Amino acid sequence: MNGTRQITQAELSRQREYGDAIRRLFAEREAHPVALVDTFGCQQNVADGERLAGMLKNMGFSFTDDPHEADLVILNTCAVREHAEQRVFGNLGALTHTKRENPAQIIALCGCMAQEPRVSERVKQSYSHVDLVFGPHALWRFPELLWEVCTRRKRVFAVEQEAGVIAEGMPVERGAGVRAWVSIMYGCDNFCSYCIVPYVRGRERSRTPEAVEAEVRELVEAGYKDITLLGQNVNSYGRGTDCDFSTLLARLDKIPGQYWIRFMSSHPRDASEKLFRTMADSEHVARQLHLPFQSGNNRVLHEMNRRYTRERYLSLIASAREAMPGLVLTSDVIIGFPGETEAEANDTISLVDEVGFHALFTFLYSPRPGTKAASMPDPVPRDEKQRWFDKLLAVQNARSTALHAACIGKTFRVLVDGLSDDPAYTLTGRTEGNRLVRFTGSPTLIGGFTNVTITGNTTWSLYGEAAAPEA
Ligand code: SAM
Ligand code: SF4
Ligand code: F3S
Repeated sequence: MNGTRQITQAELSRQREYGDAIRRLFAEREAHPVALVDTFGCQQNVADGERLAGMLKNMGFSFTDDPHEADLVILNTCAVREHAEQRVFGNLGALTHTKRENPAQIIALCGCMAQEPRVSERVKQSYSHVDLVFGPHALWRFPELLWEVCTRRKRVFAVEQEAGVIAEGMPVERGAGVRAWVSIMYGCDNFCSYCIVPYVRGRERSRTPEAVEAEVRELVEAGYKDITLLGQNVNSYGRGTDCDFSTLLARLDKIPGQYWIRFMSSHPRDASEKLFRTMADSEHVARQLHLPFQSGNNRVLHEMNRRYTRERYLSLIASAREAMPGLVLTSDVIIGFPGETEAEANDTISLVDEVGFHALFTFLYSPRPGTKAASMPDPVPRDEKQRWFDKLLAVQNARSTALHAACIGKTFRVLVDGLSDDPAYTLTGRTEGNRLVRFTGSPTLIGGFTNVTITGNTTWSLYGEAAAPEA
């Protein structure tokens, strides 16, 4: 945990005092403040958004989806691809109108983009209606930052580069339903050559097993039934301590109750046979693995600084399947890395065909200023890359459709999470493999597990009927 700063309880209680002061400030003005928290990006950001909402609730805020109604608008941003950044700048631009209607409105930008000096400088120069900019390192100090904005009406930028912090015991306002996110570690030390995350999220650091266990236990006791452990590379959890990720999973598995535990993301370099055995031996860990491979070509993998080979990846998949027959596999892949040739992209497509993933998150390479890959020669035109990408999608879609069609006639245990928007099927749920199922059944099933027999499928999801109730 080199360079990690643990935020003390005294520091957090000082933040609560700032929060109380903001609550009093609005009470004096007889105002009932309303906030909009708009989160982009990965589940890590969703988890941060829930912490922001927790702090805001303690300050007396209620929530809206309408920027015209909001006293405070927070854009919780993602920097992973250029497109994500452009959307945020578009949204920021649109907020000039709401601010003109309501000059007291406070506009804040946080999350991964805010930690990029290039972005905070641009906001400082060209988006003068933005009052507050803070990166992931400053999240725990949000009440203090908001207090400064409210009382001094000056622009606040909290975007210093830091190694990273761990703050235990921050308030959390979770989304509705039976699913919950638990960050077990923060940051990333891998420096894949295309990726901005290590620059904006700081050095890798793990929470203690005691803190993770206490949070998961609390969630299970509160009725959450699908708990996802989050980290950029969960397989390196606890590096340098005597509790590695497999040991953590085995420890969490002992918590009594009816629930599934999932995790993401796993890095193939650090995934191990030990992990697969632990998953297979557990009662609660879902037999589902998200194992991003990024490329099926060894030269490209080397240039990406992924530090494994195609052969190693395939042998990991084989041992995971041997330990857990029926395992549901998903992955991430990038097409069009600088210098990638068509033959190399074809290696990626052949790996996809060979493995048979249930689903794949496919990305066209996007240069991120400041990363190593952004300065590599990238001669292939965009429409050529798009052609390879479309070919990859066609292969993947055929595989997904066939894997989902093979479920027809089988009965799965499903966690029922709500009403479906499809009038032909009343409910939606998720299988242990995290497949979406729309099915007919009684709304009284919502929030619990039930058995569903699969009757149909699309490329992306399953259809079915509630079978006999669980014993
Ligand atoms: N830590 C995870 C891992 O290594 O598996 C990935 C986290 S990243 C936020 C999610 C995905 O975004 C990556 O797996 C990668 O496929 C994709 N990605 C990251 N940087 C990218 C870039 N510059 N262009 C395109 N896709 C990118
Ligand atoms: Fe990015 Fe690689 Fe870290 Fe994942 S492991 S967050 S892709 S640097
Ligand atoms: Fe995006 Fe930051 Fe996640 S860059 S993908 S929100 S860690």
